[in-house]
Amino acid sequence: MITPTILVVDFGSQYVQLIARRVREQHVHSIIVPPTITAEQVREHRTVGIILSGGPSSVYADGAPKLADPRVLEMGLPTLGICYGLQLACQMLGGAVSAASAREFGRTHLTVTREDPLLAHIAPHSVVWMSHGDVVDRISEDFIELARTDNSPFAAVRHRTRPFWGVQFHPEVTHTPCGEQIFRNFLYDICRCEGDWQVGNFTQDIIEGIRERVGPKARVICGLSGGVDSSVAAVLIHKAIGERLTCIFVDNGLLRNRETELVESTFRRHFHIDLRVADAAEAFLQRLDGVTDPQQKRIIIGHEFIDVFRREAEQLPGVEFLAQGTLYPDVIESGHSVGGHAVGIKLHHNVGGLPAELGFKLLEPLRDLFKDEVRRVGEHLGLPEEIVWRHPFPGPGLAVRIIGAVTPRRLDLLRACDDIVLEEIRAAGWYRKIAQGFVVLVPVSTVGVMGDDRTYADQHVAAVRFVESADFMTADWVRIDHDVLANISTRIINEVRGVNRVVYDISTKPPSTIEWE
Ligand code: XMP
Repeated sequence: MITPTILVVDFGSQYVQLIARRVREQHVHSIIVPPTITAEQVREHRTVGIILSGGPSSVYADGAPKLADPRVLEMGLPTLGICYGLQLACQMLGGAVSAASAREFGRTHLTVTREDPLLAHIAPHSVVWMSHGDVVDRISEDFIELARTDNSPFAAVRHRTRPFWGVQFHPEVTHTPCGEQIFRNFLYDICRCEGDWQVGNFTQDIIEGIRERVGPKARVICGLSGGVDSSVAAVLIHKAIGERLTCIFVDNGLLRNRETELVESTFRRHFHIDLRVADAAEAFLQRLDGVTDPQQKRIIIGHEFIDVFRREAEQLPGVEFLAQGTLYPDVIESGHSVGGHAVGIKLHHNVGGLPAELGFKLLEPLRDLFKDEVRRVGEHLGLPEEIVWRHPFPGPGLAVRIIGAVTPRRLDLLRACDDIVLEEIRAAGWYRKIAQGFVVLVPVSTVGVMGDDRTYADQHVAAVRFVESADFMTADWVRIDHDVLANISTRIINEVRGVNRVVYDISTKPPSTIEWE
């Protein structure tokens, strides 16, 4: 890695992603690493500074995560410990730290007691965000107190001889207004970062990383879904290894209108990527015939997808790598489920199910990035706005947006409604303000009146759902202009024969989920 990098050591903090983000917002490259990192690995990454994250454990608890290799703190690299990271480092650097039971959660007043580069340009009395059960209440001579709060005598400290700083509060959350300044102080004044990490350099770094990993001969296949992540991954890989990349797009018959055309025109015609479109609509629909259970639908679609993909891949000799558009939040999410923390609400199917089955090596060029960063890379690469800014679309596609059995007619009805909704929110300037917008087809007949006729038989309800969400783990329904809803409703009922009622879903997640199935 040629880019100067800040390593963020993850001790299980719920804020670890935020820390990495704050660093990148200062145009400094950062990656998140586990506490098992060794001094040799730190050297491999052109590391210019280290941040030790917070974490849910108490440093005194049995099994509390430790830095596996204490040499990491002895390499002379500037290090900032946050909350748990502060306590752990104090303990490791010979400080006799003891924890009192005073807890601090939420907004707290900080008093800066000593001038220091870490707290430069910060008001002597500032508001910070605390979230901890242990308090460092005694500390060895090796440390100097820099700031305190009513309950934390050592709310900020530094080591006398080593380049170590620690804060008990969370500078990474927006509730700590001076947090951005603290990151700037640490990154620019202490770690001497230049702040020159721009999307262009970073894109180039990723491309070079791909070249190095894949080597001069190997071939790569990439399952392209048309979503922003796999699209950006594909273009990056193509820039790195050109025609040794083949993309496979599976048309499962459960896509929105014109999906296949958009993918073909973008990747084959614009980027000149070797794209194979597997037209498997009939096979998917046959397998789904009469299936009404949502999880069953996902399982069938998942298996069929793997079968189709495998068949396509077998026609391409010499493929060593399978590329995926996995993002950092996906890594975290799957990590959590491996640890058993996440409850299986829905059996999400995506390309993530492929590698073990197919025996390829995995290539994940976006593994350290967040969605908005991927979008910036996508824009930089010249991907069309329609791809860069598109809402997420579930792997099982429209099959989980038709309640009950999936039939060709229901798919046609849903696609027609979906088209109208997307057109209207784009025209009204709402598309980019909505995290995810879609229609669910509810095959329930309700009574309507059209002209002088009663409608009932063979009618459906169309449920419109627009949500705002930062991470799709929680979501709220969008308070969209009523005029937009009115246009959508009128158009669907006038234009889609078979739908005589439109409703707007006003459920939050939790307790509801975003998709209906
Ligand atoms: P839920 O419905 O669980 O959705 O609140 C959260 C996000 O995940 C998407 N989703 C899926 N994505 N395969 C996917 O690839 C799936 O089976 C699946 N189910 C839901 C959903 O669209 C939302 O963005």
